[in-house]
Amino acid sequence: MKIIAANFKMNGNTQFIRNWFSNFNTDTENLVVVGLPAIYLENSVRNFNTSNLKIAAQNVSKFNIPGAYTGQISPAMLKDVGVEFCIIGHSEARDYFSEDNESIYEKYSCLKSVNIKSIVCIGESLEVREAKNQLNFISDQIEKFKTMEDEIIFAYEPIWAIGTGLVPTQDQIEEMSCHIKSHFSQKISVLYGGSVNSNNSSEILNMKNIDGVLVGGASLNAEEFANIAQS
Ligand code: PGA
Repeated sequence: MKIIAANFKMNGNTQFIRNWFSNFNTDTENLVVVGLPAIYLENSVRNFNTSNLKIAAQNVSKFNIPGAYTGQISPAMLKDVGVEFCIIGHSEARDYFSEDNESIYEKYSCLKSVNIKSIVCIGESLEVREAKNQLNFISDQIEKFKTMEDEIIFAYEPIWAIGTGLVPTQDQIEEMSCHIKSHFSQKISVLYGGSVNSNNSSEILNMKNIDGVLVGGASLNAEEFANIAQS
């Protein structure tokens, strides 16, 4: 069983999401995780969560205690409305909201305390890869997680592959996945993300050390995403 995750980012509305779920064929052995904008979570969990389809949040506050954090949503609030998964550390959140490895780790810990599974996004920029520094860069991003003993889900998303149509070679993906897993003694899942679509998904999902995919743009089309989930 692989994890096939969608990241709608800031797209969709009530009608779009309703149509998407009525067009999405859930007939797959894989675990499907659909990351929606926060405002649609509660209703979608109620209507669309099943045993192999889980609604996910796309981010969360690093604070779990209620308080003066205007605009934030806590892990406990996600739990309250039945959310079971949350994407954290996406490169867009790192970029636009200045999130760093420390705060992403805090989010992970708070989510864990309320039993929500994190999908922790990591990935290097083109500059870092061109300087051949990608392995060290990823080691830094996961450093804090090394003390954890639970099964962590990472999504390796090279920034240069997100929304660009560029996909790393099989060797590059496998190398990074093995590199990530080599930091841990427990079972770790590594998803690949960045320009995944139904044409390249089977090849990616067949890679020995890849445990799933995280799909942005192509996930907005329910039929396309169903093809990926069934590949
Ligand atoms: P993409 O985005 O599939 O559109 O490249 C992936 C992501 O940002 O998670």
